Amino acid sequence: MPEANKTLLYVSHLKKYFPISSNLLKAGGSVRALDDVSFALREGETLGVVGETGCGKTTLGRTILGLIQATAGDVYFNLPEDVMEKVMEKEEQLNKYLKKTTLTPDETREMEALEAELEEIRSENSLTRLSSRKMKEYRKYMQPIFQDPFSSLDPRKLIKDVIAEPMRLLTDMSADDIFDKEKELVEEIGLSEDHLYRFPHEFSGGQRQRIGIARAIGIEPKLLVLDEPTSALDVSVQAQILNMLKTIQKERGLSYLFISHHLNVIRLMADRVAVMYLGRVAELTDTDRLFTEMLHPYTKALLSAIPSIDPDRRKGRIILEGEIPSPANPPKGCYFHPRCPEAMKNCGWSPRDIAAPVRSMLEPYRNPEAKDFPPISEIVTDEEANSLDVLLSTPGANREALLKLFNDLIEKEAKVGAGIMFKSIESVKFLDDGVTIRVQQIEPDVPTLKEVRKGHFVSCLLYEEPVQKAREEVIENASATATSD
Ligand SMILES: Nc1ncnc2c1ncn2[C@@H]1O[C@H](COP(=O)(O)OP(=O)(O)O)[C@@H](O)[C@H]1O
Ligand code: SF4
Ligand SMILES: [Mg+2]
Repeated sequence: MPEANKTLLYVSHLKKYFPISSNLLKAGGSVRALDDVSFALREGETLGVVGETGCGKTTLGRTILGLIQATAGDVYFNLPEDVMEKVMEKEEQLNKYLKKTTLTPDETREMEALEAELEEIRSENSLTRLSSRKMKEYRKYMQPIFQDPFSSLDPRKLIKDVIAEPMRLLTDMSADDIFDKEKELVEEIGLSEDHLYRFPHEFSGGQRQRIGIARAIGIEPKLLVLDEPTSALDVSVQAQILNMLKTIQKERGLSYLFISHHLNVIRLMADRVAVMYLGRVAELTDTDRLFTEMLHPYTKALLSAIPSIDPDRRKGRIILEGEIPSPANPPKGCYFHPRCPEAMKNCGWSPRDIAAPVRSMLEPYRNPEAKDFPPISEIVTDEEANSLDVLLSTPGANREALLKLFNDLIEKEAKVGAGIMFKSIESVKFLDDGVTIRVQQIEPDVPTLKEVRKGHFVSCLLYEEPVQKAREEVIENASATATSD
């Protein structure tokens, strides 16, 4: 896929939060299914989207297609080349300001002017802002392919009507033209004309997916959003469908947003890959580079789990500890920090991470070195202030000695395997009441997706500016490992 191809789809800061209403009267929080996703897709290109179940892949596809209303952010699609270039340039400029922690008054003014200019461009061009009538114009050029193409269709419809429907609804083709087109399409997908007069239940899974593809390409779209298109099929049938999709793409110059949780399928199909974790893009780069020189700790873990016949590679498998956190209540800082084998002290550790470990540390029956510590009545966390209060059941007799013991225990914990979270503790002090020990943690940093080298985007604090040196070393090591393989 030539790099010079023009951008067909540009997604900027896309968010989708699903409200949780725990009961009908009281609104709850929200599920952050998509939490600030940005990327570009060029004509003729396949962008793979991969990540564990629940990371937001389907929501991404459906929000781009306009089947779900975005909470915030923009989707630019099929714009004239000069407009698309302008949009991307302005959004990029704005990003530079947004990433800065402090702005001079001049910069603030420039940023506000840019925002105002962009708002105008967005209201005219972003799919998330268009009326449904205008949206229909764009819908012609993007079509979905789902895992089960018939799940939302009337089972009593003939295949002829199933394939014809988008052409009827979205084009002004005559009935004759539609029928002629259908005859071409069934041939293209390896079926024949008489199949048009059958019902969906008469077909196998693979055939149904072929019909789904014919239905999608009948109106000559430019983009297909394929959401796990072959995940329900047998491996041999999968290969046939994937090959067919490749042929169709080449012949028609289509772009694919290809969603799958199967890494092998992604590797086969995608030119570039976006790895998602909890509604965010963790890493995005060329497929070959992702599989050989991955940088994000989550990508490393994900890829290490691919079954390998090579025993050396099997040994390198990274087992991720813990469950995927809930997107309704994501962790602070880097969403991956509770499971990250390379986490640092500033990666997002907050009271909810350390409350239980601090309690264990202070319980003499779990930790004999805490035998001189008075019993604890309660631990109260304050996520907002990033502090937690350890309440003693009796006032500490010798505060100095207790604080020293507390600090010594923390230091010890910080040295063991999973102890990095203890390094986030900045200070420990007694409050005036004499029974409360306040444990203050450092304010976490939040990684953003940065281009750490040309075309390779990573969202991880290991590659942020203040640790330029570490970042270069890690990148060098990744390259060295790749070349020595
Ligand atoms: N309609 C919905 N209402 C509430 N939550 C939803 C809805 N659709 C998806 N979610 C939640 O959003 C998150 C992302 O889901 P999804 O996009 O289906 O992920 P994936 O396709 O990667 O498995 C999940 O936590 C899921 O439970
Ligand atoms: S920022 Fe990077 S190192 Fe830190 S927890 Fe996240 S992935 Fe791991
Ligand atoms: Mg899904």
